[in-house]
Amino acid sequence: SQSAPVITLDGPAGAGKGTISRLLATRLGWSFLDSGALYRLVALAAQKRGLTPLLDEAVLADVALNLDARFTQDTAGEPVILLAGEVVGTQLRTESCGDLASQVAAMPDVRAALLERQRAFAQSPGLVADGRDMGTVVFPQAPLKVFLTASVEERARRRHKQLMEQGLSASIDDLLGEIAERDRRDSERKIAPLKPADDALILDCSDLSIEAVVSELMHHAEQAGLTERRGR
Ligand code: CDP
Ligand code: CDP
Repeated sequence: SQSAPVITLDGPAGAGKGTISRLLATRLGWSFLDSGALYRLVALAAQKRGLTPLLDEAVLADVALNLDARFTQDTAGEPVILLAGEVVGTQLRTESCGDLASQVAAMPDVRAALLERQRAFAQSPGLVADGRDMGTVVFPQAPLKVFLTASVEERARRRHKQLMEQGLSASIDDLLGEIAERDRRDSERKIAPLKPADDALILDCSDLSIEAVVSELMHHAEQAGLTERRGR
């Protein structure tokens, strides 16, 4: 429903948005939207159809509009993403897919094609949404908006560790360059650039543990009166 409360978490690549959003959603009994995965899925679907380099905005907007994506969980509660019925875990998380995602994400018609799909995630009792423009464009009425950040060195280090754990190889130096370039493109684009909403709480988590960030945000959610709407 339209009145379902939303907590938005925006910020640069590797800040911890996904991890923290999921934990917060679980704690509140709310659902969760990984909006970056939608842009990554559009990029992957386009790549699978031989549409790289990504040039034709109208064709890519069509891919976005007709995206056959499903978000579900495995038995351990870990998120599973399907593209046209196929599990696309590790392919989606590579930095090359992130780079292609950031290219399609700069196209206004692609963003427009994904807007309603994202808003449809706002169901009772509530939604935690992570991305770049959750607080500025998609859910401007959200009662709690967070801009999560960390130094680019720390984000590259964390992303490196994360990729290694998934069996993907990458050098910290390459990641640092790729992440900085993607942040630059996301921040400088004309449409829905990466920036904090005027009313966002800005949290630098370079030196904060995941648990410390989650507790801090639970505290803000409580203060905003959002925890009474706890589900389950
Ligand atoms: O979604 P986003 O790209 O912002 O980041 P993420 O994938 O949630 O987090 C990147 C990595 O940083 C994950 O492995 C997190 O466990 C880790 N992280 C951390 O160590 N400390 C934090 N305060 C936040 C995230
Ligand atoms: O996990 P990480 O922060 O590295 O990336 P992501 O959240 O999966 O997003 C991948 C790319 O999609 C970003 O670099 C943005 O270009 C784009 N994106 C966006 O434009 N708007 C969003 N709400 C979410 C992602």
